[in-house]
Amino acid sequence: MKYINIANTDLQVSNIIMGNMRLPQLSVAEAENLIRSAMEEGINFFDHADIYGKGKSEELFSEAIQMNSSIREKMILQSKCGIRNGYFDFSKEHIVESVDGILKRLNTEYLDILLLHRPDPLMEPAEVAEAFEELHNSGKVKYFGVSNHNPAQIELLQKYIPQKLVVNQLQFSIAHTPMIDSGITLNMKVDQSINRDMSVLEYSRLNDITIQAWSPYQHGFFGGSFLGDVETYPKLNEVVDNIAEKYGVTNTAIATAWITRHPANIQVVLGTTKVERLKDACQGSDIRLTREEWYQIYKAAGNIIP
Ligand SMILES: NC(=O)c1ccc[n+]([C@@H]2O[C@H](COP(=O)([O-])OP(=O)(O)OC[C@H]3O[C@@H](n4cnc5c(N)ncnc54)[C@H](OP(=O)(O)O)[C@@H]3O)[C@@H](O)[C@H]2O)c1
Repeated sequence: MKYINIANTDLQVSNIIMGNMRLPQLSVAEAENLIRSAMEEGINFFDHADIYGKGKSEELFSEAIQMNSSIREKMILQSKCGIRNGYFDFSKEHIVESVDGILKRLNTEYLDILLLHRPDPLMEPAEVAEAFEELHNSGKVKYFGVSNHNPAQIELLQKYIPQKLVVNQLQFSIAHTPMIDSGITLNMKVDQSINRDMSVLEYSRLNDITIQAWSPYQHGFFGGSFLGDVETYPKLNEVVDNIAEKYGVTNTAIATAWITRHPANIQVVLGTTKVERLKDACQGSDIRLTREEWYQIYKAAGNIIP
């Protein structure tokens, strides 16, 4: 397992994160098995959100692992807030209340990182700053970040917030690559050239913000896994399978390695509910694909290399 430092923090984190959005599908025993397997593989970072299973995910996590101070010290816990039932809410009151709920459900005194889940157009950045100040001063949250935010939204927040925003969690997989597409076909009259995110990848590298890739094996917005989907992605699966055979690993490891190969040190937030798949994915943590392999996979996903 490869470990990286999240810039501007003292956190040394695995480049694979266990995402817990799908945890409520499991029994307590299954959840325990999955979390312990993740730790055995070297994963020390766990991603949550207050809305996963309407709070059930966080509750099940702490119940399954029988959260106590010695286990807590071995984990880096991140959660998110700001999404309510059908709308977004970055009000001070909601942020502070949400964190209290998260801490209670996770049975912990503090979060390592709190993310604002999706941009709230009605946010008052000064209010967010007040909430963060309160949470930081009380020791409830060590570090702050965002998810699904573009550079201007981050700058707007950062103008008011004294704490450095250290993470941006964004959708990224071989089959979902807007973050790199427009840069590759710059200024060409093709759909791939459309810059959909204000160059968030380059902005993050320039500003030492760690990117976390959510849904690393999915296409579309929860469109299902592209791995093994030979009807929609015949060429991609052929290329990935060939490279997997060369390295003696599964296609899941190669899909993981394709993300971890990027020099931005992107963390992979995987969401599998299966121990075997989690172990397969972890094998991709420190496989270093060649440049040629990385581009071959990108092209096989249907992208243009001019
Ligand atoms: N910030 C955000 O807005 C946001 C949004 C979504 C998710 N997230 C985070 O990202 C994490 C991961 O998201 P995700 O669960 O969508 O990611 P994912 O790991 O790409 O998808 C996991 C799902 O795909 C299935 N799957 C994986 N590999 C497969 C394969 N080779 N063949 C068939 N099915 C396969 C898994 O099934 P099995 O369980 O059977 O393996 C599971 O249902 C979440 O837990 C959450 O922490 C964040």
